[in-house]
Amino acid sequence: MAGRLAVPLESAKSLEVWDIPVRVFHWFLVAFIVWQWASAATGGNLMEYHLLGGYAILTLLLFRLVWGMVGSHTARFTAFVRGPRATLAYLRAVKAGSAPPSVGHNPAGGWMVLALLAGLLAQAGLGLFATDDIMTSGPLAGRVPDAVSELLSSLHSGFFYVLLGLMALHVAAILYYRFAKGENLVTAMVTGKAAHAADTPQPKKVSPWLALLSLAVIGAAVAALILLAGR
Ligand code: HEM
Ligand code: HEM
Repeated sequence: MAGRLAVPLESAKSLEVWDIPVRVFHWFLVAFIVWQWASAATGGNLMEYHLLGGYAILTLLLFRLVWGMVGSHTARFTAFVRGPRATLAYLRAVKAGSAPPSVGHNPAGGWMVLALLAGLLAQAGLGLFATDDIMTSGPLAGRVPDAVSELLSSLHSGFFYVLLGLMALHVAAILYYRFAKGENLVTAMVTGKAAHAADTPQPKKVSPWLALLSLAVIGAAVAALILLAGR
């Protein structure tokens, strides 16, 4: 999370902390997860679109992994994944009210991001093998024995509650920053911009065209997987 200095207005400047690909990724991800929940809860004909939403989420997640390696500075895993010692030191500093400023995810937020990405990837992966035994099956369900597909379906349904817990923690942390520390992280995830001390350098940006190209390649790979699996 972007911890910012409480800088006097005249010595603050606006930096672009989240590039367009990260922001588009985030809000599409949120929308598709709401859709996944709604379509699974309704069931019936909507399950066909649950599969489509699942493929979209899988594409977004794989894209985010790639962007975490080649994307803008604040999107890169190397920029925000810190070891346990640095993370604990950061949390102690938050408690003491002396947390250093972070442009992008802070060390604790970095672990939250990893947990969310890994959890969602597991959920989407399980979905590929899931079946409701009536009319909807993931594209790989027929490739494993029925008992395995049954087991993975139950895990897919049950793991959703773990994800709900992670997502609740994520939103709670954002509310904590808003109301306990007076930092509005949501605006930054919408506009990309956040105020930082005037001497903070603008983090390096990578062209969104590279993001679009990566997204197209990953989308094509996911489509190929589905088509090949269905043969
Ligand atoms: C479906 C539920 C949600 C999921 C799965 C989710 C997932 C994520 C992920 C993966 C990131 C990391 C972004 C990146 O580096 O690519 C992130 C960051 C962020 N999310 Fe969410 N999010 C959810 C809901 C929300 C909601 C409802 C809000 C607004 C209240 C929100 C606000 C933010 C903000 C402000 C950040 C940046 C935090 C920071 O400054 O480090 N998220 N979220
Ligand atoms: C992160 C993305 C996903 C989320 C949040 C999600 C969520 C859910 C939930 C909550 C259920 C449980 C419905 C219930 O038990 O009443 C469900 C069922 C199901 N999902 Fe997903 N899903 C996702 C991705 C996928 C994907 C990628 C596929 C396949 C392409 C898929 C295929 C299925 C199937 C076949 C069922 C029925 C399983 C059964 O009835 O036991 N899902 N999903």
